[in-house]
Amino acid sequence: MTQHLAAPTSGTESVNPGERPEWWREAVIYQVYPRSFADGNGDGMGDLEGVRRRLPYLKALGVDAVWLSPFYASPQADAGYDVADYRAIDPMFGTLHDADAVIRDAHALGLRIIVDLVPNHCSDQHDWFQRALAEGPGSPLRERFHFRTGQGHAGELPPNDWESIFGGPAWTRTKNPDGTHGDWYLHLFAPEQPDFNWEHPAVQDEFRSILRFWLDMGTDGFRIDVAHGLVKAAGLPDMGHAGQLRLLGNQALPFFDQDGVHEIYRSWRKVLDEYAGDRIGVAEAWTPSAERTALYLRPDELHQAFNFHYLGTGWNAAALREAIDASLDAMRPVAAPSTWVLSNHDVVRHATRFADESAEQGLRRARAAALLMLALPGSAYVYQGEELGLPEVTDLPDEVRQDPSFFKENGQDGLRDGCRVPLPWSGTEAPYGFGPAAGGPSWLPQPASWAELSVEAQTGDPDSTLELYRSALALRREHPALGAGDAVEWLDAPEGVLAFRRTARVDGGAAWHGDFLCTVNTTSEPVRLPAPGRPLLASVPLAAPGDETELPADSAVWWAT
Ligand code: GLC
Repeated sequence: MTQHLAAPTSGTESVNPGERPEWWREAVIYQVYPRSFADGNGDGMGDLEGVRRRLPYLKALGVDAVWLSPFYASPQADAGYDVADYRAIDPMFGTLHDADAVIRDAHALGLRIIVDLVPNHCSDQHDWFQRALAEGPGSPLRERFHFRTGQGHAGELPPNDWESIFGGPAWTRTKNPDGTHGDWYLHLFAPEQPDFNWEHPAVQDEFRSILRFWLDMGTDGFRIDVAHGLVKAAGLPDMGHAGQLRLLGNQALPFFDQDGVHEIYRSWRKVLDEYAGDRIGVAEAWTPSAERTALYLRPDELHQAFNFHYLGTGWNAAALREAIDASLDAMRPVAAPSTWVLSNHDVVRHATRFADESAEQGLRRARAAALLMLALPGSAYVYQGEELGLPEVTDLPDEVRQDPSFFKENGQDGLRDGCRVPLPWSGTEAPYGFGPAAGGPSWLPQPASWAELSVEAQTGDPDSTLELYRSALALRREHPALGAGDAVEWLDAPEGVLAFRRTARVDGGAAWHGDFLCTVNTTSEPVRLPAPGRPLLASVPLAAPGDETELPADSAVWWAT
């Protein structure tokens, strides 16, 4: 028996952006990493024309919105998270005309478009920073960044002890226009990414104007990069010790999650609300707790924040349940939806993260994790390729790697290229339809085994991961209540098993008679249970249940009651 025990009864209706109020509350948002999604011009690098041509694939997959990682003019020191011009497209990705075409075509299909905004830092090639360097000490443009004189006799030591997320000091010394050693500037990430000084009104004005530029282009919202980093503690105080990276996301830090950031998001919310159609802000916020994250989502601030606590939770029923409850409990007081995310362009793909014993086990768990995530109330994020069950590529040769953190000792794990390998679409020869020509280039090499994982190879195979995602997303669209509400009702279940009921209803939404149940067996053994209902969808082949059912190891099942 295949995994598909009941086909959805209706197709996916096209909804025009803005038609459904608060569409983001239960939206499934697909992350496109433009360099690695689809290459329209055959140069080996993904681009906006590639994205545009594949929008029908995303529509048919059943997602609601697309988040595009940065495509702005950039020297690519950090794969586009170093922006030289926030209102221009990097030639490698296309033109503003191509961006306009993506937005228009997406809207015509009923898909929304969220763009990545990088406000914590820019590129060292940004006009303001270049002019600040060229004008030398005393330049008013230096006040838009964090320039400081160094410590030590001759200013040869960094102004404080902060460490860069990518490793090494968070400060780089400049040369004065006359060639002598000059002041230092702060960069929480790579030296090519100077941090803005958000106390400066010109920085604040500029970003409100950039928001308007992209809202006028028709985008439906922003994913806000390093949303927790914009404001630094007054006086830039020392941390007092090394090893600061280990504290990210679990302890208060003088450069992250300062209370002052909220005033910025309040002012941005006013801009978003000037526009029709529920334009949203999604925070990438690393904070010490779900409660601190919820502060970004107060009604006059942003709409959603990534749930990194959930992303970091292992394949363990008790830990997952705790993470789910903690998030729902924290978001309830601010009436924001929880979000669920398993992978993105910065972390090891979950099919590999969950593989304690074998790749096969990792994929089984990844498929089950997808059904769990898509059954939870709130909004879910799908990182490109997870719908194909792609594993992390762990054997990239050093000479092809581009992630700046790879080149720094003690930096972020340095493994971020392995989740950024271009997608396989079709055919038996690399780049597997990523670019237009068989045998053509791709900026990172794809494993030979990916021929079997291509969209073409998986389409129509009822046991494939792609068809599992398609079925799950179709059921979710058919039953909007699946993502609605702010609670799950946990049912008694044996150790290592999650069982929960969803009874939320959406006003005016599709009729949903009876309840929906999800069971997840996170153990390596099958577990017998009284059959909770009629199976709708399962992550593994399931024997037809009688009064009892057997939940296979590492599996999830959706049930109708
Ligand atoms: C975010 C991005 C990451 C980038 C960093 C600096 O964490 O997701 O890819 O390197 O910000 O912009």
